[in-house]
Amino acid sequence: MDKKIAFFDAKPYDRQSFEEVNKEFGFKIVYFDAHLSSKTVEVTQGFDSICVFVNDAVNKEVIGHLVEHGVKIIALRCAGYNNVDFVAAYGKIPVVRVPAYSPYAVAEHAIALMLSLNRKTHKAYYRTRDGNFAIKGLLGFDMHGKTAGIIGTGKIGKCLVPILKGFGMHVLAYDPHPDTGYADSVNIKYVELEELYRKSDVISLHCPLTSETAHMINRESIKQMKDGVMIINTGRGKLVDTVALIEGLKSRKIGSAGLDVYEEESEYFFEDLSSEMISDDVLARLLTFPNVLITSHQGFFTAEALHNIAKTTLDNITEFFNDGYLRNEVCYKCEKPCLKEQKKPCF
Ligand code: NAI
Repeated sequence: MDKKIAFFDAKPYDRQSFEEVNKEFGFKIVYFDAHLSSKTVEVTQGFDSICVFVNDAVNKEVIGHLVEHGVKIIALRCAGYNNVDFVAAYGKIPVVRVPAYSPYAVAEHAIALMLSLNRKTHKAYYRTRDGNFAIKGLLGFDMHGKTAGIIGTGKIGKCLVPILKGFGMHVLAYDPHPDTGYADSVNIKYVELEELYRKSDVISLHCPLTSETAHMINRESIKQMKDGVMIINTGRGKLVDTVALIEGLKSRKIGSAGLDVYEEESEYFFEDLSSEMISDDVLARLLTFPNVLITSHQGFFTAEALHNIAKTTLDNITEFFNDGYLRNEVCYKCEKPCLKEQKKPCF
C-alpha cells in the first residue's frame, strides 16, 4: 500500500520493528524524532496517516491541523489513549490503537519492580561489582503469604494474578466491572477499594487513566493503606498524586514504590538526558529515595510486544484504507469500536 505515514517520537527500536513488519505492507513511513505537538504538526502536510505514542499530544489544536492537512487516520501504537482529545476527534478523524500487544510484558515488568524493591537486587548488583559483599540494608520479606491488591483486572491485571498466586500470595482485586467467573476460577476475591487498601502489602495499578482514576492514589487513599505498603505503578503516571506519594514515603507510611510511569514523564522518559540537569523537582526528589525504583515506561518493551505493536498498527491503517471494519477504533467512553456503528458519540 503506497500510503504515507508520519511516524512521531521514532526511536531506533521502533524503526527496526516497523521496517521489518512493513516489508509485508509496503507503506511509505517517514520517521520523525520529535513528538507530535502543535509545533511539529506542520510536518504532517501530505501524509495520509500519523502514527503516535504515549507522550505525543493529540489535542484539539493538533487534531484541527491534522484534519486541515488531509490526514485521514490517527494510529496509536500503544494501548492507552489518554493523550487524545476524543471529543475533538469525533466525526472528523478516527483513532485506532493497539489494544493488546503483550499483557505479559507489562505484568512481568510489574513483578520485576516488586522483586527488585523487595530483595534490592538493583543495589546488590552495584555492591558486589564494587567488591562490597555486605548484605546489611538488603533485608526483604517473603512474598509467600502476603496479600497483593490488583486495581484493574483487564488483560494485564489478569496476567499478573497467576504469577502472584505462584508466589503463594493472597490476591485481592478491585475493578468497577468485576469478572466474577474469572475470580472464582483463579481463586481471587473482588473487594471494594477501601478493603484492598487496608489489607494489601503490595498494591499494583492496572487500570486506565480516566477522570475517575486520576490521582486515585492520593493522601486519602494512602492514609487507608497498611504501614510499609509497596506501591507499583505500571499503568499511567497520573494515577498517582506524586506529591502525596513523596509525603507517604517520607513519613514511612509507604515502604517502597516501583514506578514505570510518572505524571510528568513526557519531557524525560525515553530520552537520554544523562548530561542534563533535571529541572522537575518532584522527579528529582523521587530519584533520591533508596526505596523508589523508577523505570522509564519500559513495561511494554519486549521483542514480542514490539513486533505485535508494529503488526497491529499497520493492520489498523490497512483496514481503514481498505474501507474495512475498524476493529481497533477507540470510542471515548465505552472503549469499543462503536463510533461507526452508532453514528453518534457515546459521551
Ligand atoms: P484493559 O482495558 O484490558 O483493562 C483495564 C481494566 O481496568 C478493565 O478491567 C477495566 O474495567 C478496569 N478499570 C476501569 N476503570 C477502573 C477503575 N476506576 N478502577 C479500577 N479498574 C478500572 O487494559 P490493560 O491492557 O490491562 O492495560 C491497563 C493499563 O496499563 C492501560 O490503560 C495502560 O494505561 C497501561 N499500560 C502500560 C504499559 C507500560 O508499558 N507501562 C503498556 C500497556 C498498557
